[in-house]
Amino acid sequence: MKIAIGCDHAGVDLKRALIDSVLKEHEVIDMGTNSKESVDYPDIAKPVAHAVAAGDVEYGILICGTGIGMAMAAGKVKGIRAARCSEPYSAEMSRRHNDANILCFGARVIGTGMAEKIVEKWLSTPFEGGRHARRVGKIE
Ligand code: RB5
Repeated sequence: MKIAIGCDHAGVDLKRALIDSVLKEHEVIDMGTNSKESVDYPDIAKPVAHAVAAGDVEYGILICGTGIGMAMAAGKVKGIRAARCSEPYSAEMSRRHNDANILCFGARVIGTGMAEKIVEKWLSTPFEGGRHARRVGKIE
């Protein structure tokens, strides 16, 4: 699977840990940042969201301190359904019912183990379609 990933300064360590673990088997395009120097999360969310919206990658993953800013910024791009998840149940449902195409979480909120579980669940869960497709269509 081709996945774009990005983070701000708060998410650098978690992003690296995920690239080296649960994302190892995927084709990952790292859109930064890669230093602890402060950056503005919308500047990272934008290229990741555009890559997903354009179909250059299947999914996006965005990490900041809380995951909130990334989700807000990514959701401004047409066609993006960004879900901020702090546990696997929401991650599963965001795929099953909402067809989320960007996963966001907060490196200051969850640990590496929880993030790995969330990513695994999110990437392996299909969209159910049916009545959910109608609802997702109404978002657009
Ligand atoms: C950066 O300090 C912090 O505001 C950012 O990582 C994120 O949590 C924003 O939503």
